Amino acid sequence: MSVNLLTDKAREIEALLDEVLPPVSTRPAPIHEAMRYAVLGGGKRLRAIMAVAACESVGGDGRQAHGLAAAVEMIHAYSLVHDDLPSMDDDDLRRGKPTVHRKYGEAVAILTGDALLTAAFAELARMPEKYGIDFATTVAVIAELAEASGSQGMVGGQTADILAAQAGAMARDEVELLRYIHSHKTGALFTAVLRCGGMIGGASPRQLASLTTYGEHFGLAFQITDDILDEIGSEAALGKATRKDQAMGKLTYPRVFGLEQAKAMARESVRQCLQALDELPEDTHILRELALMVVERDR
Ligand code: IPE
Ligand code: IPE
Ligand code: MG
Ligand code: MG
Ligand code: MG
Repeated sequence: MSVNLLTDKAREIEALLDEVLPPVSTRPAPIHEAMRYAVLGGGKRLRAIMAVAACESVGGDGRQAHGLAAAVEMIHAYSLVHDDLPSMDDDDLRRGKPTVHRKYGEAVAILTGDALLTAAFAELARMPEKYGIDFATTVAVIAELAEASGSQGMVGGQTADILAAQAGAMARDEVELLRYIHSHKTGALFTAVLRCGGMIGGASPRQLASLTTYGEHFGLAFQITDDILDEIGSEAALGKATRKDQAMGKLTYPRVFGLEQAKAMARESVRQCLQALDELPEDTHILRELALMVVERDR
């Protein structure tokens, strides 16, 4: 995407999150400070931009997806805070700043994640009142995001990711496990936000199926590229440490397939994303641009 368009949209999301998160002065101040630190001032906002774009791609009003956009960024930020903990990936740098546990201590970091996850669902429950979404759609969106975030979605993928790294040696069915990890730890949330954006926009079952296909392939292309950037990217551009996955024994696409084949697989997923967009009735240029940039990015 033109960098400017992406930056403009990210700025809109930043303002939205600033408004949704409790002010620092709210008691107890340290947790609210840490929540704002975790969410604001960084991040590409891809999931939020997608929420709005998916809604618009089926003819909906993108502003009605703002509750979803804020919620998914809070869920994503929580997942990063916990992912970086010493007992997980043990990272010191995120979005170019010290990780939440480095700045506020581990206990507050765990609680920050808990608070962001629950705040996200409170924000979703306000969709009827704030954005005029009907109750049936609201409940469906809450269920979909809860499932995508939980033990059969992102948390499931994170569990398998950590256990595979701890197991060390090659797993018996390594490729199948790798697919499971990526589709769950990363793909599930992307797919859910696209589908929920579509639901808010009034998508037909067929349109939802296209958004699902796009989300699954986007998630895969995105995480393969994240793995590649861990090997060949720059810490300054990414705002997080590089060359960690191999040191921690993570199961990644470059490790299993090699860099060149991993890149080719990411590009093939982008092709599938673009193909899925052909089925959507309205303007899909943002989803198209996002799919094209996902493998070209350096951050
Ligand atoms: C990083 O996600 C975590 C993964 C799922 C690989 P992003 O690269 O979207 O992180 P931010 O929000 O832009 O920092
Ligand atoms: C994280 O994957 C996926 C999440 C659900 C947070 P990674 O562990 O590879 O993400 P980074 O590289 O730390 O951003
Ligand atoms: Mg991780
Ligand atoms: Mg990590
Ligand atoms: Mg990574």
